[in-house]
Amino acid sequence: MSQLPVYNPPSPFLGFMPAGLGLYRKVVIRGKMTHDQFNINLQSGPNVNPRDDAPLHISIRPRDQVIVRNTYQFRSWGIEERHGGCPVQKRSYFDIQITVKPDTYSIAVNGCHFAEFAHRQPYASVRFVHIGEGAQVDAIVME
Ligand code: GAL
Repeated sequence: MSQLPVYNPPSPFLGFMPAGLGLYRKVVIRGKMTHDQFNINLQSGPNVNPRDDAPLHISIRPRDQVIVRNTYQFRSWGIEERHGGCPVQKRSYFDIQITVKPDTYSIAVNGCHFAEFAHRQPYASVRFVHIGEGAQVDAIVME
């Protein structure tokens, strides 16, 4: 586990944000999609199997033309939000920006607003970013 920012991390990878997420902070993940699915989790604890609560899960799935947004709590998935298509193609570069807003996480993909995800768990509980396999990641930074 290392502290953000991280450059060229392996995947899967767990990154630590000691100060957590504050209002209008951004988590930015840049990389290249190598497979059909790549998952990003903003989560409260370091465990991934079973996973600690994740106030935001993003699953990029170019083959299904969807970027799924969800939460994970008490070892189960919540209700998926799936509208918006998938502006990330397999083998292409992506830039995902997650901005903490008072009522939502605002998600931008490749510089364009993509979706708002209403908070279901407090963003202040987030301390870790976990990324799965499926992409070659260049950077995970906080702004
Ligand atoms: C499941 C998938 C999980 C997660 C979840 C989100 O189908 O296996 O990795 O993406 O959907 O709702």
